[in-house]
Amino acid sequence: MATLKTLNEFIIEKQSEHHNATGEFSRLFGDITIAAKIINREVNKAGLVDITGAYGTENVQGEAQQKLDVYANEIFIGALRNGGECAAIASEEDEDIVILDGPSANSKYLVAMDPLDGSSNIDVNVSIGTIFSIFKRKDTSVPVTRDEFLRKGIEQVAAGYVIYGSSTMLVYTTGSGVNGFTLDPSIGEFCLSHPDMKIKEDGKIYSINEGNINISTKGVKEYVQDCQEQLFSARYIGSLVADFHRNLLKGGIYIYPATEKAPNGKLRLLYECSPLAMLAEQAGGKASDGKNRIMEIDPTELHQRVPYYVGSTKMVEKAESYL
Ligand code: AHG
Ligand code: MN
Ligand code: MN
Repeated sequence: MATLKTLNEFIIEKQSEHHNATGEFSRLFGDITIAAKIINREVNKAGLVDITGAYGTENVQGEAQQKLDVYANEIFIGALRNGGECAAIASEEDEDIVILDGPSANSKYLVAMDPLDGSSNIDVNVSIGTIFSIFKRKDTSVPVTRDEFLRKGIEQVAAGYVIYGSSTMLVYTTGSGVNGFTLDPSIGEFCLSHPDMKIKEDGKIYSINEGNINISTKGVKEYVQDCQEQLFSARYIGSLVADFHRNLLKGGIYIYPATEKAPNGKLRLLYECSPLAMLAEQAGGKASDGKNRIMEIDPTELHQRVPYYVGSTKMVEKAESYL
């Protein structure tokens, strides 16, 4: 039997390639994987909780009443706080940044995250995910501010996601390719299963909420028509992570455009679009807001939204040509 390489082993191996690495990044990553494993465990119990749910929903005190996205947020913040390598977190679930004091106060790293992506899919047993983006602080001697998170995607030192699907996977990049690890539940370890992932230059899958087509711009309508004329497959789960993951493996485009309802689209730049843009580019794909490279957008707000076109390079370029 071939020996499996665990995520831990992989990270330590990578660390030793950087002679001035201190191990802090590896430990930060370790904290993220611990949180991912805990969330995975809870996600897998979601159905059981629902079966006994009548009590749960009536429990006024109740932890069981907590929505999984709030729970996931707490798990991540707790893991990063205990780990001590992250100075502050920007999360979809928190209006402001969460500053981690104690041993974390002078830590080098900042994490932006969507702790639970696709939360409308939890109750219906459809894949959901976690997205994270990591920045290095420029100056660790000063207190962290909200503005420190307003960084371009190109400044990310790492980005990744976890998909809780038919199996649980963690996919990440530190800027030298994309690697995917599948959780082996029997040993509780993420093992390298998808080394050096590449997205096809062109694809035949388009992922967009077509229910919004009538409130989309002419360019988006025309691009979708173009996909239909070529008999492409429409695949849209409603969990960005899951739609992105499928298109990464098979070739395709994910679109969340500007609509009349949401003039800047729905997805958030810092903890949804930027990290997946880094992954897409590292896999040979492309990510754009229709005009500009996502990775070069200078954010002005923590929870800023942007229209999003991500996936196979040729598909993203063709979509742009319609806009
Ligand atoms: P979240 O669960 O983190 O709020 O994200 C939901 C996002 C994304 O995952 C998904 O692709 C999109 O919302 C679906 O939106 P529509 O229901 O408008 O298609
Ligand atoms: Mn999300
Ligand atoms: Mn979310």
